[in-house]
Amino acid sequence: MSQIKRVRGFQDIYGENARKYRYVVDTARNIFEKYNFEEIILPFVEDVSLFVRSVGEETDIVQKEMYVFEDRGGRKVALRPEGTASAVRAYIEEKLYAKGGYQKLFYEGAMFRYERPQAGRYRQFHQIGAEIFGVDSPVADAELIKMVQDILDSLGIQTRLEINTLGDFESRKRYMEVLRQFLKGVEDSLCEDCRKRIERNPLRVLDCKVEGCRQATADAPVLMDFISEKSLERFERLKEYLTGLGVDFTVNPRLVRGLDYYTDTVFEFITDKIGAQGTVAAGGRYDTLVKQLGGPDTPALGFAAGIERLMLLVETMPEDQPLVSVIPVVSEFNIQALKAAQSLRKEGIKTELILKEGSLKSKMKVANKFGSRFVVFVSEKPELKDMESGEQELFENIQDLIEVVSGKLKGALG
Ligand code: HAM
Repeated sequence: MSQIKRVRGFQDIYGENARKYRYVVDTARNIFEKYNFEEIILPFVEDVSLFVRSVGEETDIVQKEMYVFEDRGGRKVALRPEGTASAVRAYIEEKLYAKGGYQKLFYEGAMFRYERPQAGRYRQFHQIGAEIFGVDSPVADAELIKMVQDILDSLGIQTRLEINTLGDFESRKRYMEVLRQFLKGVEDSLCEDCRKRIERNPLRVLDCKVEGCRQATADAPVLMDFISEKSLERFERLKEYLTGLGVDFTVNPRLVRGLDYYTDTVFEFITDKIGAQGTVAAGGRYDTLVKQLGGPDTPALGFAAGIERLMLLVETMPEDQPLVSVIPVVSEFNIQALKAAQSLRKEGIKTELILKEGSLKSKMKVANKFGSRFVVFVSEKPELKDMESGEQELFENIQDLIEVVSGKLKGALG
């Protein structure tokens, strides 16, 4: 019979990688909580039109990357390709705005995009992300960016930060008209996708990786020249705040992002260390999206980072808690061994009761495989073996042994 394999672009995350995954998420979660963000657990499946109306009809995500299907009730649904649209839907649907003040939410979990798989790019990948609803001030942009920087710093990941402003909706509309005229003039040199984009999504032409398109748009009008005084002023303030916070950045006037909902600030944290898929975290403002999806006029901003990409960059993790293994010397001591393992765990010690039956030698082999720091032999008198020094010590009873091993482990942890 042929073996069933995992589906292309999907991964099993186990062992060392699963620990790394958890380490990345826990580190981010700690920082989110320090910045007073609250968790929101969003559904994996949404109405397709949510993404069409937010991420944008002409984007790669909506055009070719979404997992779309009809459920058994005939609803057209999609596996979420990103988290922002769902967060906005929830903000409106759950009337989170009615709580007053402003809302700071974070999330973690799987996203799905039918992209060509390669290192750092998968069809099921995982993000940590955060969104702020109801704040207009660029102080929020600066704090959000600083928070992402804090997460990367805590994980020991070095990146460079690029920022740009797309201007407000009006300036962008004016610019898009001028850009459209320019692109019509060079239409013959553009790839087929970009020709289609001229009418519906001209900004994305600037982002196209095809060499011909890059050359044809080298002299295209620059968005920065069309941006309103107000937007420029807020961009200046953001730069001042970032500088004040000691966050290094460069302005990349070509940074437009692949999703349509952005206004004003956009940013990306990029690395050269993991090949072509170098953007580890990205985000920006989307001041018109909440209203566009039927909610009250609410400025908003956020970011998301790819957990797999962060994992590729994490080099060191805190050491695991040392393991104590318990071995009944013969099966007559199974009950005492079961109890000894419970007592050790009660003391907060990570404990493996060696579950295999067999010779003492074979049980020791298993204890070694698990990388045990100490082994407890349960017999008439319990015995403790230090697996590093090889020393063995006999005790009158298990309580005395637990006290000693507990002390040794605390000493080892400093
Ligand atoms: P995004 O740029 O599409 O933005 O994705 C954010 C991050 O998710 C990327 O920088 C990358 O690290 C990771 N990522 C994206 N696609 C893949 C993939 N196929 N495989 C592995 N990692 C991937 C968003 O998703 C926006 N929702 C960010 C945002 C939040 N903007 C405002 N709020």
